[in-house]
Amino acid sequence: MKQALLYEGKAKQIYATENPNQVIMYYKDDATAFNGIKKSVIAEKGRLNAAITNHLFAYLSENGVPTHLIEQLNEREQLCHNVEIFPLEVIIRNIAAGSITKRLAVVEGTSFTQPIFELCYKNDDLGDPLINDDHAIALGLITAEQLAQVKALTLKINTLLQARFDEIGIDLVDFKIEFGKTTTNEIVLADEISPDSCRFWEQTTARKLDKDRFRQDLGDVTQAYEEILARLLG
Ligand code: TMP
Ligand code: ASP
Repeated sequence: MKQALLYEGKAKQIYATENPNQVIMYYKDDATAFNGIKKSVIAEKGRLNAAITNHLFAYLSENGVPTHLIEQLNEREQLCHNVEIFPLEVIIRNIAAGSITKRLAVVEGTSFTQPIFELCYKNDDLGDPLINDDHAIALGLITAEQLAQVKALTLKINTLLQARFDEIGIDLVDFKIEFGKTTTNEIVLADEISPDSCRFWEQTTARKLDKDRFRQDLGDVTQAYEEILARLLG
């Protein structure tokens, strides 16, 4: 079923299939941080992120969010629609953490009065710089109409994910998602939603249950990812 390797990213590989409209996404255990400067392997991460993404994409799809996911094939592989990914990292911040605490001197843990929508230009050579809507449109990364759709979908995804994580005692601090365009020009959620791409804090203890455990050398990284999956499946 899996054919030529089409693309290899830091945490995933994309393979062709017999059907040009479908690809297979393979989740690796490789982990990087700080634009690839810090590299390691997180045992079982690929399997855990595939399962977490599968669960969350199914939940979002049931609630009217179109996604690229067709089906989970095995522990580390998902069959997906072949989409053209917009070179944008779409970020929502509900609580201050990570880069915004340095950029704007906001104290970590500060709740924002409304979700903050950010865009970064996906370009490793430039270090994925923060851009605004006008940059994205003027650089031809996305059209104004497409961006309006992406923004509306992203705010809806945030509301749905916040509710889902609240049920399992976790605060959705922030997350990064990516969108793609299908061959029929439909905009769909793509890539993954996992502890690699979100910040999750346990409500009762403020314990970090995401990739910050790797970024900050906090230990028990695999256990944190396992905890997220167990609670979602719980
Ligand atoms: P940041 O605070 O480092 O800007 O990250 C914001 C969110 O985006 C956080 O949930 C982690 C996620 N993220 C990625 O998924 N990939 C990345 O390359 C970066 C820098 C952040
Ligand atoms: N995944 C990104 C990288 O390697 C950064 C991050 O998630 O912190 O470099």
